[in-house]
Amino acid sequence: MSMSGKTKLAGVIGWPVAHSLSPRLHGYWLRQYGIDGAYVPLPVRPEDLSTVLHGLRLSGFKGVSVTVPHKEAAFALADRLDAAAKAAGAANQLLFREDGGLDGLNTDVAGLAASLSRVALRGKSVVLLGAGGAARAAVLALDQLGASEIRIMNRTQSRAVTLAAALAPTVKARLVPMAALDWQKAVGDAVLVVNTTSAGMKGGPSLDFDLNALPKSAVVCDIVYNPLETGLLLGARARGLKTIDGLDMLMHQAVPAFRAFFGVEATVTPELRRELEKALSNG
Ligand code: ATR
Repeated sequence: MSMSGKTKLAGVIGWPVAHSLSPRLHGYWLRQYGIDGAYVPLPVRPEDLSTVLHGLRLSGFKGVSVTVPHKEAAFALADRLDAAAKAAGAANQLLFREDGGLDGLNTDVAGLAASLSRVALRGKSVVLLGAGGAARAAVLALDQLGASEIRIMNRTQSRAVTLAAALAPTVKARLVPMAALDWQKAVGDAVLVVNTTSAGMKGGPSLDFDLNALPKSAVVCDIVYNPLETGLLLGARARGLKTIDGLDMLMHQAVPAFRAFFGVEATVTPELRRELEKALSNG
């Protein structure tokens, strides 16, 4: 698709941003749907965020995706927030409104919910690893999918306690902070374990949990996608457990963003997944 003077503009803001798969992902859909649009990587230093946003608005950008380390700052700059952003305390999408305002959204909640939709969670107990911004989004997604109890475990246990207390008023599920020592008890009857910690990312340490304690039918999900096969997922697969990797969530969270930027409801397909796997393996 060649670009015209009316090309719809969007991009992703991060620092650094070169590692982001979002330009590949949106670029794939732009080609697939023959849209006169562009989605570009935008490396932006934290101190320049509001200046750059102002410039992008003036240049006709529809909005931007937001990645590390700007999600909390984006949340603070938005004058209107969706429920997911409010609960997560972070926005991963900003839209410039015609009245001059700035909408902050969090599509991670919908993305994770879509990637976990194959798992029957209604009325079941799940274990959530982590207590950061990603864990907050995961609590909302798990609650939306009907989990009745979410057991929250974190390296720093006090953060799990704080997160449970902060989100308890907004969700129906019971939020139970647990200590790492209670692992066996926590996972014994869990249908799903979701890792939202950054442990397992390329170059970092892996999580070390006894996966034999999980029921044979349990599913293990890791939102880390670089590498795609984290130590946790490899361990789970070796024990015959079903796994869901972070690429699923990444693809699904981009659907509402693409709709907002380019007005088309895109679909997540195996071809898109292959395209992103290729990009990941090329480093
Ligand atoms: P995000 O917003 O992406 O969730 P964050 O707020 O920095 O990022 O949270 C990172 C999460 O990964 C935290 O739960 C963190 O645990 P602590 O609260 O104890 O710091 C967790 N984490 C990071 N590295 C870890 C590691 N090596 N082992 C276990 N947990 C780790």
